Amino acid sequence: MDYEERITAAELGEGEGGTELTLRPQTLDDYIGQKKVTDNLKIFIEAAKLRKEPLDHVLFYGPPGLGKTTLAGIIANEMEVDIRITSGPAIERAGDLAAILTNLNENDVLFIDEIHRLNRSVEEVLYSAMEDFALDIIIGKGPSARSIRLDIARFTLIGATTRAGSLSAPLRDRFGVSCKFEIYQPDELKQIIRRSAEILGVTADEASLDEMAKRSRGTPRVANRMLKRVRDFSQVKGSGTIDMEITRRALEALGVDEMGLEGLDREILKTIIERFNGGPVGIDTIAASIGEERVTIEDVYEPYLIQTGFLYRTQKGRMVSEAAYRHLGIEREVPDDDGGEQLTVTISQ
Ligand SMILES: Nc1ncnc2c1ncn2[C@@H]1O[C@H](COP(=O)(O)OP(=O)(O)OP(=O)(O)O)[C@@H](O)[C@H]1O
Ligand SMILES: [Mg+2]
Repeated sequence: MDYEERITAAELGEGEGGTELTLRPQTLDDYIGQKKVTDNLKIFIEAAKLRKEPLDHVLFYGPPGLGKTTLAGIIANEMEVDIRITSGPAIERAGDLAAILTNLNENDVLFIDEIHRLNRSVEEVLYSAMEDFALDIIIGKGPSARSIRLDIARFTLIGATTRAGSLSAPLRDRFGVSCKFEIYQPDELKQIIRRSAEILGVTADEASLDEMAKRSRGTPRVANRMLKRVRDFSQVKGSGTIDMEITRRALEALGVDEMGLEGLDREILKTIIERFNGGPVGIDTIAASIGEERVTIEDVYEPYLIQTGFLYRTQKGRMVSEAAYRHLGIEREVPDDDGGEQLTVTISQ
């Protein structure tokens, strides 16, 4: 199945935009989890409002689907200003960015998703805009060219990226606040699913809420999508309410296992086990073996595999844990004491 189509694919799917929007919390109080991030932001927002100033520029980074775009919207809401949403690849030329910036009102939020993908010339325009709220524009060509400085409204830039490491140092340094998004805990996901179920008007018992939370790989977007698919099953194959039986059936049909792993997660683990004897093996080698891009593995799959304890990083590369062998029901080959023949140890479930 295509990456985009899979239930756990963290991108916003076609045709789900409408409900995704209504499931998005609108205020900080509705925003569940990420306490470290929101506790600080609450204070910065309040202080900025007291001073009647824009909030300092904020950088959000972390795996996809954890609520970066959602929180940017909430910040604008709490600041009572407008938000303009765009993304790194959408701003092709410096002129495009200049047009966006000159249209902002005082204290507005400009949200740039995938900010690590801004091109160089656009990024340079952003530097003076962020620092001095000014644009340096070059008029004319050749020897008669001159530069004029244009003031713009004082605004807040919120940048989001899945890869903080790909940001250039000058850009990173211009953000006053930097927030790392963490994978959610099952109890937080349960609250999110419960809230979404209420909005969607479906009833689910406690056990199935727990089950979905446990299998959502720590990601609200996955949790919401899973809830919608389980709801489909409950309407067509069940009584309309979500219980354990329907949840298990739906998730099995969708190829999501008890730990929330699906096809590619298991393939990554199996590849390391079967072809590299459990590791250590470099990320590029893993990527080449399964035919995925390295960044996709690093950004989308690895964070959850590491959180579950199935995969870990060492100096020499990635390794799978005993728990991964057990989960996949694969026997581990352990070298004999004298390092000679292989001895097979069976680990029971
Ligand atoms: N803390 C939260 N509480 C409730 N729902 C949330 C929370 N975070 C995210 N969601 C839900 O998950 C969905 C995905 O969140 P969002 O689009 O903000 O993720 P993102 O971090 O911007 O992802 P990407 O990096 O792919 O752009 C949202 O539609 C929202 O419904
Ligand atoms: Mg987003």
